[in-house]
Amino acid sequence: MRIAIIGAGNVGGTLGRRWAELGHDVGVGVREPSKGAGAVKGSGGLPSTAHVAALAESVRGADVVVLATPWGAVPDALRAIGATDGALNGIPLFDATNPLGPGLTLDIGPKGESGAERVQALAPGARVVKVFNTTGFDNMANPDYGGAPATMFIAGDDAGAKEQASSLAAALGFEPLDCGALVRARELEHLALLWISLAFGGMGRDIAFRLVRRA
Ligand SMILES: NC(=O)c1ccc[n+]([C@@H]2O[C@H](COP(=O)([O-])OP(=O)(O)OC[C@H]3O[C@@H](n4cnc5c(N)ncnc54)[C@H](OP(=O)(O)O)[C@@H]3O)[C@@H](O)[C@H]2O)c1
Repeated sequence: MRIAIIGAGNVGGTLGRRWAELGHDVGVGVREPSKGAGAVKGSGGLPSTAHVAALAESVRGADVVVLATPWGAVPDALRAIGATDGALNGIPLFDATNPLGPGLTLDIGPKGESGAERVQALAPGARVVKVFNTTGFDNMANPDYGGAPATMFIAGDDAGAKEQASSLAAALGFEPLDCGALVRARELEHLALLWISLAFGGMGRDIAFRLVRRA
């Protein structure tokens, strides 16, 4: 699968490395492509099978696009890849961002909208899925907890796009969980805030959420 990742930080770099190791064709979109692989953060660096490209170029021909920039950069990044002008029409857009405000708060939209719903409004033709936001990037490198996978919570309005997100999350070792329509991203972003407050409140980053069910 051809995967474009926008944002070459801890999340984008880690997801890119792991999917490239699994044989996917990964292109990481960066603002300064002249820096090459040096522009990419994340655990372990990017394998030579993945490539770095300018933002608009990185999404050309992509099967799916992952958005992994800081929240404040989302409008600029979506403009730079052409998503606001239809470049992602029909393409799954996996929103890993969290709309963090100052002091462990969420920047919630005027009508209570999640960040993901605002991403959808900015890129109306894209098939937006909220995913990869409720756990730390280290868990994206390794979601295994004593033989049990961490859960990857997923929300979106497009069943096919959610299936692709589930399959890419499962390939990393997560147990994917479809939480319903994109409006459920409101809860997923609060769940992310809970993860952050626990991790930075003393528990550390080696924690993850797992949904358990009675058989
Ligand atoms: N860290 C986590 O464990 C974690 C887990 C789940 C979700 N998230 C969410 O995922 C997002 C990324 O987090 P992160 O920790 O990976 O951040 P990060 O390490 O700070 O990386 C952010 C990346 O976005 C790039 N960027 C900034 N502005 C941009 C723009 N206008 N256009 C394109 N790229 C731009 C940065 O590039 P430059 O280097 O050029 O500035 C950098 O590569 C955030 O929304 C965060 O809340 C984080």
